Amino acid sequence: MILPIVAYGHPTLKKVAEDISPDYPELNTLIADMWETMYEANGVGLAAPQVNKSIRLFVIDASPYGEDFPETADFKKVFINAHITSESGESAEMDESCLSLPGMTEKVGRLPKLEISYVDENFEPHTETYEGIIARIIQHEYDHIDGVLYVDRLSNFKKILLKGKLRDISTGNVEVAYKMTFPLRARIRR
Ligand code: NI
Repeated sequence: MILPIVAYGHPTLKKVAEDISPDYPELNTLIADMWETMYEANGVGLAAPQVNKSIRLFVIDASPYGEDFPETADFKKVFINAHITSESGESAEMDESCLSLPGMTEKVGRLPKLEISYVDENFEPHTETYEGIIARIIQHEYDHIDGVLYVDRLSNFKKILLKGKLRDISTGNVEVAYKMTFPLRARIRR
């Protein structure tokens, strides 16, 4: 089932999400719905807060980057209860966009290497290190489960410039090809 993606300004996007246990209700259905929702929106990652669930779950399929970055060709993973344990290297900027912020792309600075601990969809534990494009996608999705959006990482000056655009996104005054919930959309429209 395709779930509506919540837009910038929705309170769930600002919450630090909680770890879950293996008996979390309908977890497999939620994961399947998140894949379907992500693919429908042509995303490479989707975090549970973006479908209004404040839990530490995100999914990534980086294969659309396969032509430019061969290591992404078969990278498809579910991350549950993830915790980034270290980040290192020299900060580098790269364009990012987000399904909760349709129509926007901005350069975001991030450290290029990380170590992450998580459990997969079978609650098997993993500790892995990543760098480059995969690290960046993980950092973006991981931010979502910590209540952070990439725009929160921009300079104050940039944030001021983007204020009108962000307001348009919150109110639904934006063109988007997938199903969304806009937190500030007026209930009665004339
Ligand atoms: Ni995002």
